[in-house]
Amino acid sequence: MTKRSNLNKEMFDSISKEYDFINNLITFGFHKKWKKEIIEIVKKIKPKKILDLATGTADIAIQLSSIENCKIIAVDPSTKMLKIGHRKIQKLNSNKNILLEEGNSENLKYGKKTFDAVTIGYGVRNFTNLKKSLNETYRVLKNDGLLIILETSLPTNPLMSFFYNIHTKLYVRLIGMIFSNNSNAYKYLQSSAKTFPHGEAFKKILIDLNFKDVRFEIKLFGASTIYVAKKSI
Ligand SMILES: C[S@@+](CC[C@H](N)C(=O)[O-])C[C@H]1O[C@@H](n2cnc3c(N)ncnc32)[C@H](O)[C@@H]1O
Repeated sequence: MTKRSNLNKEMFDSISKEYDFINNLITFGFHKKWKKEIIEIVKKIKPKKILDLATGTADIAIQLSSIENCKIIAVDPSTKMLKIGHRKIQKLNSNKNILLEEGNSENLKYGKKTFDAVTIGYGVRNFTNLKKSLNETYRVLKNDGLLIILETSLPTNPLMSFFYNIHTKLYVRLIGMIFSNNSNAYKYLQSSAKTFPHGEAFKKILIDLNFKDVRFEIKLFGASTIYVAKKSI
């Protein structure tokens, strides 16, 4: 593991306990709606096996587990995020078709063409090596398999951009300071959203990596974006 991956793991370990609570506060609960949209997109291809990469506290994996006759493998390098996820799964008694595993996007242990879909919620901008990680998702996807990514983006409308800046620079940082024992993590998470490619720029990255039929849907004036791409050869 590289030094940056280690720091990344330590950071998510340190915010694991309050992650879900703060996530609800800073997205005003919208992340749940967008995650549900991911499930609706995936359901259409009647998947049998899905990888939820950067699963964190397993929000998406839990929702995916409602898909009948489908096995969910949920992977994350943060032991403590996974521990919270494990507790949530046990509480909901939905552990029959979810397997939580420690792992890193850059070196997935699964064979090529294993999954019908790969989902990644708010994970890609934390990957130390984005292209290597996306290539790995390509490798483990079956032909015609779908990669679905939910990630923060930036509003283009100047008025929305103004409110977005107030939200990130003041509100998110304040919430981080009040409720998290690592407020620097929230500073990092917000500043990384500013520089991470989004919209057409992220679409181009996926196309350059051979994904086909790449499309994206902007959510809440650009606060987040859902990308859908297909492995097609
Ligand atoms: C912001 S959380 C998102 C968690 C969850 N998917 C959600 O939507 O709430 C980002 C997650 O990405 C994970 N992560 C960071 N680097 C990773 C990598 N290289 N491979 C897989 N997961 C990674 C972190 O450990 C963390 O749990």
